Amino acid sequence: MRIGIIVYSKTENTYSVAEKLQEKFQESGHEVEIEMVVPAGDVPPRAKNVEFQSKPEIESYDALVFGSPVHAFSLAPPMNAYLEQIDSLQNKKIACFVTKGLRFNWTGGNQAIGKMKKICESKGGKVVGTDIVVWNKNKDAKIDELVRKFSVLF
Ligand SMILES: Cc1cc2nc3c(=O)[nH]c(=O)nc-3n(C[C@H](O)[C@H](O)[C@H](O)COP(=O)(O)O)c2cc1C
Repeated sequence: MRIGIIVYSKTENTYSVAEKLQEKFQESGHEVEIEMVVPAGDVPPRAKNVEFQSKPEIESYDALVFGSPVHAFSLAPPMNAYLEQIDSLQNKKIACFVTKGLRFNWTGGNQAIGKMKKICESKGGKVVGTDIVVWNKNKDAKIDELVRKFSVLF
């Protein structure tokens, strides 16, 4: 299966999870690309309009993983704006994850995942898995768990 891991990452945490996922999917025999969502310039935490330097094309993938940080208690605006502008996710299996700095449940992880799921489903995508990584001392075990969980989704 051809899998696209589409990532927005400001300080590389989310990207590092994507790399581990890519490795695991490749071990299972999938063809996997990581593609970055890159905004043009700095984006304020609650920005509505985002201009892009790079917007990955997703048509050629059978399955997609979207990864993003949580910003300002919600989905980071570049990923939100990127997902909003995708035309169709019809017939694509999708998994979503976010990374975040704060451990409490109300600090944006569920809100961000909820937004990703809602946008993907509104475009016909089938969201088959989601996860949240809190970037603290337990993160490595959590990332291993996410990778194991996602590796059997597609
Ligand atoms: C502008 C900004 C806003 C953030 N807001 C939150 C937040 O509301 N809740 C949270 O848990 N973490 C928050 N964080 C922490 C990031 O979500 C966390 O460090 C994440 O792993 C960064 O991912 P990245 O390195 O891929 O950019 C924020 C970070 C930044 C830079």
